[in-house]
Amino acid sequence: MKTALRFITCGSVDDGKSSLIGRLLLESRQIFDDQLKSIEKDSRKYGTQGDAPDLALLVDGLQAEREQGITIDVAYRFFQTPHRRFIVADTPGHEQYTRNMATAASTAQVAVVLIDARKGVLVQTRRHSRIAAMLGIRHIVLAINKMDLVDWREEVYAQIAQSFRSFATTLDFSSIDAIPLSALKGDNVVSPGTAMAWYRGPTLLGLLENLVVDSAPEAAPLRMPVQLVNRPNADFRGFCGRIASGTARVGDAVRVNGKGVSTRIQSIVVYGTPLTEAQAGASITLTLSDEVDVSRGDVIGAAGNTREPADQLQAHVIWMSEQPLIAGRAYFLKIHTQTVGATVTAIRHQIDVNTGAHLAAKNLQLNEIAVVNISLDRKVMFTPYRENRVLGGFIMIDRLSNATMGAGMVDFELRRASNLHWQALAVDKARRSHMKSQRPLCIWLTGLSGAGKSTLANQLEKRLHAEGRHTYLLDGDNLRHGLNRDLGFVEADRAENIRRVAEVAKLMVEAGLVVIVSLISPYRVDRERARSLFGPKEFVEVYVDASLAECEKRDPKGLYAKARRGEVKNFTGIDSQYEPPETPELHLNTIAQSSEECVDRLLHTLGPMLSPLDLPPTD
Ligand code: ADX
Repeated sequence: MKTALRFITCGSVDDGKSSLIGRLLLESRQIFDDQLKSIEKDSRKYGTQGDAPDLALLVDGLQAEREQGITIDVAYRFFQTPHRRFIVADTPGHEQYTRNMATAASTAQVAVVLIDARKGVLVQTRRHSRIAAMLGIRHIVLAINKMDLVDWREEVYAQIAQSFRSFATTLDFSSIDAIPLSALKGDNVVSPGTAMAWYRGPTLLGLLENLVVDSAPEAAPLRMPVQLVNRPNADFRGFCGRIASGTARVGDAVRVNGKGVSTRIQSIVVYGTPLTEAQAGASITLTLSDEVDVSRGDVIGAAGNTREPADQLQAHVIWMSEQPLIAGRAYFLKIHTQTVGATVTAIRHQIDVNTGAHLAAKNLQLNEIAVVNISLDRKVMFTPYRENRVLGGFIMIDRLSNATMGAGMVDFELRRASNLHWQALAVDKARRSHMKSQRPLCIWLTGLSGAGKSTLANQLEKRLHAEGRHTYLLDGDNLRHGLNRDLGFVEADRAENIRRVAEVAKLMVEAGLVVIVSLISPYRVDRERARSLFGPKEFVEVYVDASLAECEKRDPKGLYAKARRGEVKNFTGIDSQYEPPETPELHLNTIAQSSEECVDRLLHTLGPMLSPLDLPPTD
């Protein structure tokens, strides 16, 4: 069977990538007559090559791209020769599209890096090569293009190849091949041409046809993340998934998540057909000889393989969102078949993509890359990305919008917290709740500074106290004198502020108290994360609402006036955002209603929620 080679092309705008791929496709006879005709027509409209068909138009599929004159997305093309099948991802050269390049590179084995012979190695070249290396590409083909425009001179080629090689020494590629060519004229793309007799190496297509790529995933130990447990009846229990690495053979000893007893593969089925073996990339259903507890997200692996699930890791992250990555903020992380809650606990350093230098960073903007520590809400099976792209690659997702925010590559598992265990407490929440004759709760007041949070919180606590409730008030201003005195008001600091207060509130709820939190807590995602720490009826979000104009008029601490004068920076409502709750348990308008009325409404809502938890049977 012919092997398949997945490669990407990358380079700067105008390096001629699209023309190069166009020529590869054309000369390997993959263009059908009708496609050619439509290109000829379009060439007259958009082309840059006079009446000759513009090969770039074959690749730049999207109307929008043509009109912008730059490629804005990843275009996948398929072609084949008698020797090999090829899947090529053409990636955009424009700087802001780093994320597209990363997307394409994550599955490629080879990167064809285009260089304009007149310009040599550019910042873009270095950036793309660094990203390619980070995404696990081990083979680089330097396509030194537009040789016709430098009079086909050998020294131009030699100098560029040399300068790339010396830059790439730190990047750990296992092969770098440099080819002088002209995508426009065709020399050294598919056939050698006559202009560069001094060059004795292969053509681009020849090289791609014969390139031996590093360790195919089939050679690695078996690992299959379980996508689905298929149990149509009591007699059959099949585990469906796509083999991430290695070969599954009937009779082979396997283990689930690297621990527990080993069992054997009893059968393998693909589309209803039994097989004796299947390889990396195949989607299969397998059954095991013994009853083993397996669920979605578990990894069935070779028995000798003892990697276990973990909940802390270090990773490289490429940020792909306009909204910055904030350390301390919670995201979802999707890794092979599972999605879990995740927090970036630290940005260790940002990486300057052009130079590789390490930079200090508090957050990460669009297209930036950093090494981060991540803490997961529960243990998950993963491997370093170097070992396996499927089990070590992940995406980060916004908890509210579900948008993809970034892509990551696991460097390694962090053991630190894995050695900590939850200590079971003999006296639990229910017993404490019962003793205090109340159901513990977290009442979370959010709103602009001056909206009346502290006033309401104080009055509410007084009333609850008078009713004999056990309460505690966590007030943002007060906590910033102690627990949070190291935090300011930039987004990352506020996220951390809210995280800490939520954790403290959770402890107090564990202790059986009715906790009132009064924090601006301007970001929805941070409040949702706070909510996620509590049980379904334990968290009451209260929007303390007053218009900005009214808050500014009240200005109890004179801070709005200072913010307007520029003396206080990042002031909520002035030069820092406030995102009102969309579905709070209670919405109080402190302009329309007096504080007494507001507290009455609060107590009315809370009343039925306060009856104590059922006492568990004593043991
Ligand atoms: S939060 O945004 O992180 O939740 P928090 O409630 O702890 O804020 O603190 C807000 C209080 O800090 C305000 O009531 C105000 O007195 C004070 N403050 C000082 N600087 C700022 C600022 N830039 N933005 C908002 N509040 C500020």
